[in-house]
This record gives sequence, C-alpha cells and structure tokens, in this order.
Amino acid sequence: MSKTVRANSNIAPIKYWGKKNEEKRIPFTSSVSMTLDAFYSDTSVEYKSDLKEDVFYLDGQKIEGAALQRVQKFMDFVRSEYPEIKDHAIIRSENHVPTAAGLASSASAFAALAKASTLSLDLSNEELSRLARMGSGSASRSIYGDFVKWERGVDHESSYALPIDMEPWDDLRMIAVLVNEEKKAYSSSEAMKLTVDESVYYPAWVEQNEKDVDLAIQYLKEHRLDLLGPLVQANALRMHASLMAVNRWYFEPMTVEVMNRVRRLQEEIPVYFTMDAGPNVKLITEEKHLASVLELIADFDYVVAGPGKGLEVL
Ligand code: PMV
Repeated sequence: MSKTVRANSNIAPIKYWGKKNEEKRIPFTSSVSMTLDAFYSDTSVEYKSDLKEDVFYLDGQKIEGAALQRVQKFMDFVRSEYPEIKDHAIIRSENHVPTAAGLASSASAFAALAKASTLSLDLSNEELSRLARMGSGSASRSIYGDFVKWERGVDHESSYALPIDMEPWDDLRMIAVLVNEEKKAYSSSEAMKLTVDESVYYPAWVEQNEKDVDLAIQYLKEHRLDLLGPLVQANALRMHASLMAVNRWYFEPMTVEVMNRVRRLQEEIPVYFTMDAGPNVKLITEEKHLASVLELIADFDYVVAGPGKGLEVL
C-alpha cells in the first residue's frame, strides 16, 4: 500500500495575485500565509507500470475533464523533472476543504500531491515547495506549518516558500465564514490573468504588496494583531480592487454583510477580515476574542482554524 500524505491548506494574510510566468506560476509578488489546522487534503499515489495514463479519484469519485488534466499535467512535470519516476499512477485524494469556494483547496491538494508523488525521492522542503507551485501557486506555501513566506523569485529555482522564523503564535485564529459553498464564478487563475493583463491598478498592487509583505512579517514576529489586522484587511481589499477594475468581483451581498459587521465590531475588539478568490470571508482574531466573533456570525456556517502543521506522512 502506498502511504498517505496530509497537507493542511493555507490562507494568505498578504496575497499572491498575478503570475509573471503562467507556465511555471512565478508570481509578480511575494506573499505571506498561515497554514490552517482545520482544512487539509490526504493523498496517496500508487505507481503502476501497466497504466497508460494517470487516474485520479477525489473523495472516492473518479475525476475526468479539466480537473483530471490539471493533475495529469502536474504528474507529467514530476516525470520530466525526476526521470527515475517513469510510471503512471493512481492518485487518491480526500479533500477536507469545500472545493473551489475560495477556501484554498488547491493549496493543500497540490502540496500533498507533490510529496505523495515523490515519497521515494525524499526531496527537501524547498524542492517540494517548488514542485507544489507547479500545481498551484498557493500550494508552495502549504509545505510548512504556521506562518510562511513565498519568496517570489524570478524563475523555477528561486521561487519557493520558507517558514517565517518567529515565536509560535498559537492563539491566532482564522475563521472561515461560509457565505456560499458553490463553485466560484471564475477561477483564481483566470481572474488574476485578466488583472495582470488589463487592470490599470495592477502595477500599484505589485508595488504596495512588497511593502505589505515586509510589514506583515514584522508584525507577525511581534505578535501585534492591532497592526497586522488593518494591514491584512487593506491588502485583501487592494487585491479585490485590482480585480474590480476589470469588471469582475467575488463579493456577494452576504460577503459585504460580514465585512460590515466586522468593521463595527472592530471598534471594540481586534477582529479583521480577508477574502480570496470567492465570496467567503475569513476573519482573523485571537482565541480570547473568539466568543464575541462567533456571536457576530452565529447565523452563518463557519469553521474555526488555528495554525496548522506542515506536511505529514501518515
Ligand atoms: O494558487 P491559487 O491559484 O489558488 O491562487 C490563490 C490566490 C489567492 O487565494 C486569492 C491569494 C493567495 O495568496 O492565496
């Protein structure tokens, strides 16, 4: 039996939005993430010499079409990069993340697949991060636990993530508020490409994001939620503003409702929001404020996450 690899998903307080190189997923900016203990993918890869192509089961269902092709393309890269791997494989993945609703399912999925497909090679984390990036940009960060920086780099060699060297911040919480669990209107890849190609705000986003990355790392190291929170919120809004300038948005009425509630509660306690490529809202706070925050969103489904671990072979 092939071993199962678990990768936790991650949410970025400072976002990745836009690729300089589409093929290799080299981003225009660095980004900062928190790995989440509540969302993960469990994946195993079984190589078989008699298979003509890779087969992919997600949550027990055989997958065809675009999702299969994306996995096959990734596996082709694995075989081209590591010629000792020649066979096709049966890939089985269980996703404990609502898929494609802006809750970063591809991050845990491709991080787990990077490790599970190369178990026999015992690659370094740096190498796994590069490899995971080929499947999904955000996956490069899910190799590690806690807080992570994806160094944008300029090419395949130099673009990978590393853990942020800091004291653990175990009582930080990320709460995913599920506004809508349906598949999002457009993929992050599609939306970011349009932003890069056409948004007049994109150069401003890139310039500001590099500053946000450095500041966020400083505030993380100091455990200063009062400084980190407003920055995280502004960073997400700047990302969405760059997209809105090309006539696209992920906001739904309930997205804005949650944002407004958070803004009001912010006058009393440190709670801040961030959003990704979907309508769901993620709140950042500390454990001691959790009860008040959960009261605020009691009429929604939500999942509370703390800092999670890096890759694990189960
Ligand atoms: O790696 P992707 O294609 O899932 O893109 C992720 C983009 C955002 O979630 C919006 C931001 C981020 O840094 O995770």
